[in-house]
Amino acid sequence: MEKRILSGMKPSGELNIGGYGGALSQFVAMQEKADCYFFIPDLHAVTVWQDPRELRERSMEIAALYLAAGIDPKRSAVFFQSQVPAHAELGWLMETQTAVGELGRMTQYKEKADGRESVSSALFTYPAYMAADILLYQATHVPVGDDQKQHLELARNLAVRFNSRFKKNLFTIPEPIIAGIGSRIMGLDDPSKKMSKSNPNRSSSILLMDEPDDIRRKFAKAVTDSEGVVRCDWDRKPGISSLLEIYSVFSGMTIGDIESRYQGVGYGSFKEDLAEAVIAKLEPLQRSYREIAGSEELDRVLKDGALRAAEAAAATLKAVKEAMGFVV
Ligand code: TYM
Repeated sequence: MEKRILSGMKPSGELNIGGYGGALSQFVAMQEKADCYFFIPDLHAVTVWQDPRELRERSMEIAALYLAAGIDPKRSAVFFQSQVPAHAELGWLMETQTAVGELGRMTQYKEKADGRESVSSALFTYPAYMAADILLYQATHVPVGDDQKQHLELARNLAVRFNSRFKKNLFTIPEPIIAGIGSRIMGLDDPSKKMSKSNPNRSSSILLMDEPDDIRRKFAKAVTDSEGVVRCDWDRKPGISSLLEIYSVFSGMTIGDIESRYQGVGYGSFKEDLAEAVIAKLEPLQRSYREIAGSEELDRVLKDGALRAAEAAAATLKAVKEAMGFVV
């Protein structure tokens, strides 16, 4: 069977190297080998409050960053979720077959809802809609970071459930692709929490658009430990372990090679070299971002992407509606 890939990054904040390690760098590598759909899940961003102007800006920013990172729109469809109505429609149908108990077990929901006085119902039902994003395109593989594992499991369960309840082969069962290295990049200020777009503390993340001096300063301040040995040990040394993963993603070196290189050397020079490795990758990406952002070419790519996506989605949606008993 032909490989079909779908994935996306929410425009809920500025993109950081966490999303790059867990997702974006994988997207680029995969487009050679598969039929790809890379979308911007803007409908999902509004599960928590978004300033309308910022949402529009961030959405365009992510689209430009996809291309700047190397996604080739000739091979891959790049589009906004909100421009393909089938996402919302299949999302509703998914919700009808999803149990409240299943959604209540989602750890990401619990984390995001924790401490908030009021939570939108969309934040709760969101994983059923994420399943729709994937299943609409009959995706065989979904490259994501570690934090999306549970959502992917729900998407797989829903695919099996629909196929069995409606006695038709409606959906392909998607496989997650979780990178061995880079799928779990932690906050620089607190390595017990993932580096997150929604963290208001700007020094907890390296943003893809950060200036070189900001990158050097943020890594220099990153929380580590007092052992002074550069080695990977997620239980005892999550700070250094996460920095090692970042180093590996951005340099292409293995964790073992990096550990050997910094034997007997303190954290200072390790962090300095790490910053330079990240800057070396981000500088060309930022340059190409500046050329693409705001261009007519980008608008054209997004229009074309939405048309291609709508066409692929229509066939699945029609089959599901028919199987469920709607008059189509
Ligand atoms: P989002 O927007 O939070 O993150 C986008 C992708 O980046 C990965 N990621 C990370 N990986 C490693 N370390 C980190 N610190 C880090 N932070 C983010 C995420 O795992 C994700 O792969 N629900 C999704 C968006 C989505 C989606 C989909 C993804 C909606 N529909 C369908 C795939 C398929 C989300 O909130 O990702």
